[in-house]
Amino acid sequence: MRDKLQEIKATALDELSKAVNLDQLESLRIKYFGKKGELTQVLRGMGKLSPEERPLIGQLANQIRDQIEEQLQVKRQDLEKVVQTKRLEEERIDITLPGRDFNLGTRHPLYQILDEIIDIFRGLGFSVVEGPEIELDYYNFEALNLPKDHPARDMQDSFYITEEVLLRTHTSPVQIRTMERKNSQLPIRIIAPGKVYRRDDDATHSPMFHQVEGLLVDKHVTFGDLKGTLLTFARQIFGQDRKIRLRPSYFPFTEPSAEVDVSCINCGGSGCRVCSHTGWLEILGSGLVHPRVLEMAGYDPEEVSGFAFGMGVERITMLKYGIDDLRLLFDNDLRFLQQF
Ligand code: PHE
Repeated sequence: MRDKLQEIKATALDELSKAVNLDQLESLRIKYFGKKGELTQVLRGMGKLSPEERPLIGQLANQIRDQIEEQLQVKRQDLEKVVQTKRLEEERIDITLPGRDFNLGTRHPLYQILDEIIDIFRGLGFSVVEGPEIELDYYNFEALNLPKDHPARDMQDSFYITEEVLLRTHTSPVQIRTMERKNSQLPIRIIAPGKVYRRDDDATHSPMFHQVEGLLVDKHVTFGDLKGTLLTFARQIFGQDRKIRLRPSYFPFTEPSAEVDVSCINCGGSGCRVCSHTGWLEILGSGLVHPRVLEMAGYDPEEVSGFAFGMGVERITMLKYGIDDLRLLFDNDLRFLQQF
């Protein structure tokens, strides 16, 4: 039995050293250690040995089993390494493969125009400020000389959160917030862009839209300053040969008030479909800051004066790009947006 074991050991180690892949290795494992394996069978035959022989042969058998098993492990690791190396070689990354394309977005047309508007007023010395979209009734109406039950509130029917808190209906409350903050530090020269909300929804009105407010407060500010500023703006945004026209109007927070038209950017003033054959397009509301508004914000209307204006960014965008339905601006249709 001792010879038999030595023989098994010799052939097993020899065969193991010659195995070239993991399948062969597995067959060898079964050949020696499997249920009917050669070594298993020898070990099973131990029962027939005499009590003197048994421990000696048993020890030898265990030794040989351990040696073969160890050899099997070593060989398995070697072969696994070979498999892995081969796989790594085959799976080499091809760095010459072109990268995956992704689409670069563009700025929304509305915000392109908003940027233009901001640039123009920055060039005139205005700085940009912002105010909250959820606003107090006091700033949105009261401090703008629109007391509760004032009929002009109806024009800006809105979304109320409580009786005193609402989504702002215009950017004019930022006028008040700025005057309060900057009190006594003149001149005030700001624009306030942002979202505003009204209960409107059709081809030219959206429940959410954008305005740019303008406010200038200083000593000796005149209506001429307002007109000059707006003419400069109209020419920069719509073209150097534009004219403007001021029509008397009414806002509770300005006096006098004016609605401002620009000569039609489509026909130049001769009359066409875009301007409803009037030659003019309305672009904003404006006026001199009402003395009562100055007073409520803490200024002496005898000492200082100011002008204010407010324009709709959607309207200016539509006029500039010839867009006939406001809702296109909010549909997020790439076929539309990619044109700008
Ligand atoms: N807030 C006014 C509106 O939304 C526009 C406006 C602003 C008018 C400033 C005069 C002065 O209609």
